[in-house]
Amino acid sequence: MNSILDQKLNLKGKKVLLRVDLNVPMKSGSITETSRIEKIIPTIKLLIEKQAKIIVLSHIGRPKGKVVNEMSLEPISKKLADLLNRKVLFNRNIINENTLSEVNKIPNGSVMMLENIRFNEGEETNDSKFSKKISNLGDIYINDAFSCSHRSHASIEGITKYIPSYFGIQINEEINALKKITSKIKRPVTLIIGGSKISTKIKIINNLIKKFNNIIIVGGMANTMLKHTGLKVGKSICEDNCEYLIKEILENSNKYNCKIICPVDVVVSKNLQGIGKNKDIKEINDDEMILDIGPKTISTIKKIINDSNTVLWNGPAGYFENLNFQNGTKQILEIVSQKTKNDKIFSVAGGGETVAAINKFKKLDSFTFVSTAGGAFLEYLEGKTLPGIKALNQNV
Ligand code: 3PG
Repeated sequence: MNSILDQKLNLKGKKVLLRVDLNVPMKSGSITETSRIEKIIPTIKLLIEKQAKIIVLSHIGRPKGKVVNEMSLEPISKKLADLLNRKVLFNRNIINENTLSEVNKIPNGSVMMLENIRFNEGEETNDSKFSKKISNLGDIYINDAFSCSHRSHASIEGITKYIPSYFGIQINEEINALKKITSKIKRPVTLIIGGSKISTKIKIINNLIKKFNNIIIVGGMANTMLKHTGLKVGKSICEDNCEYLIKEILENSNKYNCKIICPVDVVVSKNLQGIGKNKDIKEINDDEMILDIGPKTISTIKKIINDSNTVLWNGPAGYFENLNFQNGTKQILEIVSQKTKNDKIFSVAGGGETVAAINKFKKLDSFTFVSTAGGAFLEYLEGKTLPGIKALNQNV
């Protein structure tokens, strides 16, 4: 494996393009959870020790090739500087004809972060000209963003065609841990899937049905399922045009004997700041939004987890940032952590929002493994070779 831990790799004075995932939760311009920043510190420290010139590439949010000021990486560069206890230069421009001369100026052992890579048009389209353009900024490329490696984007996949490319420390750790755990999975296996990134995950569920005994769907994901099975979800977040997919999910769950569990009761409010009201899933009004799961649903989940030997979890059960809607997520954490401690089941959790919830309720030590990755974690469970990892393996 082409890893930066390779002792023979001489990086002194070399420009290293380091792709990381700094897509951290933010609220009104402030970072609310820093795990993804903390995880990349060992790689950056090693590169500093090796006297490389470190050029950090990352994205936050989905700006779709446009500059969106609220999605600037600048506050994150400041946080990184605090955690490293050293200066981090921030390059505000999108990549242009001056970027090369700007990165050329940085001294050995120093760090420059470039602005959100997704502000550039060619990033998400994996444009070959853009991939080449970023590769020209460095001597070598390192991917330390397992959580983005399911994306065929220029700074993940395209770039590896033009420049020697290596695995970072964190990506190695995540792959090794997930490999070990998935090879030991004991049935019955339950997947809990929630959160707000519905479009990414809904397609994945269909492929996971064959591998799991139970799939518990909560959060924004559940709203989409409920709406398309004829229930009213009011103003809740949900995805349109999923009828066909949901029909297929339900048919496949019968075919492969995988139980799909959706909420039967929920906590609703008229807005995110409101207080919660328990309701049966059949009683949602047009001006209400579903923000958590209710007590009946929680007790069903408890029973299923109790009967499982492996529990995999991605995506919170509700809007846990408001304490009126945190109960479902908190209860799931409680049940899984107790079960992991007492019965030694395998429990793996992954995803930006999920890690934020785990940290909020101080349960980091209660899982067999916690991955920074959400979508990438699910695609890894599907058995897919992630494009970012495939690209690194081909670049030897
Ligand atoms: C994540 O948060 O899972 C990664 O940063 C990938 O983000 P994306 O789903 O917007 O590609």
